[in-house]
Amino acid sequence: MKIINIVGARPNFMKIAPIIEALNQYPTHFDHLLVHTGQHYDEKMSSDFFEDLGMPKPDIDLGVGSGSHAEQTARIMIEFEKVCLNEKPDLVIVVGDVNSTMACTITAKKLGIKVAHVEAGLRSRDMTMPEEINRLCTDILCDYLFTTDKLANENLLKEGIAEEKIHFVGNVMIDTLVKHRQLAEDLTLLDDMGLSKGEYATMTLHRPSNVDDPEIFMGILDALENISKKMPIIFPLHPRTRKLINEYGFKHYFNENKKIKGIWITEPLGYLEFLHLNMHARMVFTDSGGLQEETTVLGVPCITIRQNTERPITCTEGTNYLIGNKKEDIINAAESILGGNQRAGTTPELWDGKAANRIVEILHSIDNAAI
Ligand code: UD1
Repeated sequence: MKIINIVGARPNFMKIAPIIEALNQYPTHFDHLLVHTGQHYDEKMSSDFFEDLGMPKPDIDLGVGSGSHAEQTARIMIEFEKVCLNEKPDLVIVVGDVNSTMACTITAKKLGIKVAHVEAGLRSRDMTMPEEINRLCTDILCDYLFTTDKLANENLLKEGIAEEKIHFVGNVMIDTLVKHRQLAEDLTLLDDMGLSKGEYATMTLHRPSNVDDPEIFMGILDALENISKKMPIIFPLHPRTRKLINEYGFKHYFNENKKIKGIWITEPLGYLEFLHLNMHARMVFTDSGGLQEETTVLGVPCITIRQNTERPITCTEGTNYLIGNKKEDIINAAESILGGNQRAGTTPELWDGKAANRIVEILHSIDNAAI
């Protein structure tokens, strides 16, 4: 079976890494290539992760870069179509919900190639999120839908997707966390930064709904500045967030000198470095999807600065609090946690480090003729 694995943006790398490793267990059965669309291209957003995760270099880099949604999606489709025509894969595997996920799915399906979606069925029901559009378009087209929880199965069934296409396998992002947990633990970053376990917070913020409007962005930064008087907040900046901070004149919120208190901005961190910081943080502030899942497994409280989440299991079973983006609500949530009000949380079913093996077992059991 010839497979093309797709990556494009930062959160894709930790999802594809365990799949490649699991495919390698059947070298005579699977012939697989890795295609990087180039949606993310900065070293700190892309190649550094390949190193951290021990991933092979991409076989093909489409080099599409940034652009508007239509431009980026279209460029990926044009370039990926050529790859499909040359390579003639039996199956394309896409992960997550970024533009590369949707663009490669549409391209492959129109050429009659089967597609598997890993992390299918997540729904925020918020059509202002580009990712929700990507999820819906991808899932309706895919032939194999691998889900992280049973609610995702229900979402897909309600949308009319045939039950036999849906496979509840667990969470590949957690496979990567489980594999790298000890390596991350062994780093000395906390000491290097002069931080103590449980006495700082980490934060990520890059969603258009939080950073594009200067009023909303300012409210969030006001809240964090207030909280950072009690503990430093380490804030690795996504390139689009850094650009907007400069544009809106928000640099005064940050402390580049790393004094004890305040918001400390850094360049985007590597996978192991950020895992090391998150596992020992008192709490995490984020609008990312993956971090809601990682903190649930780490047992660290996560304050999600969004109105909705496509990952509600992290709130019902894990350590995630969906707070919205109002200043007072963010401050109150952080103070409540500092006051000791926090759920212990449990690890969701099958988030056990073996999701990629389950996916590959299922693919292995498919008769080549059926593909
Ligand atoms: C994308 C995903 C989002 C994911 C995020 C993780 C979509 C629709 N969005 O958002 O779901 O949570 O990745 O990071 O696919 N840029 C650089 N260097 C890079 C990459 C981006 O400077 O290596 C800057 C460019 O100005 C670019 C902007 O960031 O225009 C946005 O990048 P893009 O990939 O379009 O979306 P993200 O916000 O990163």
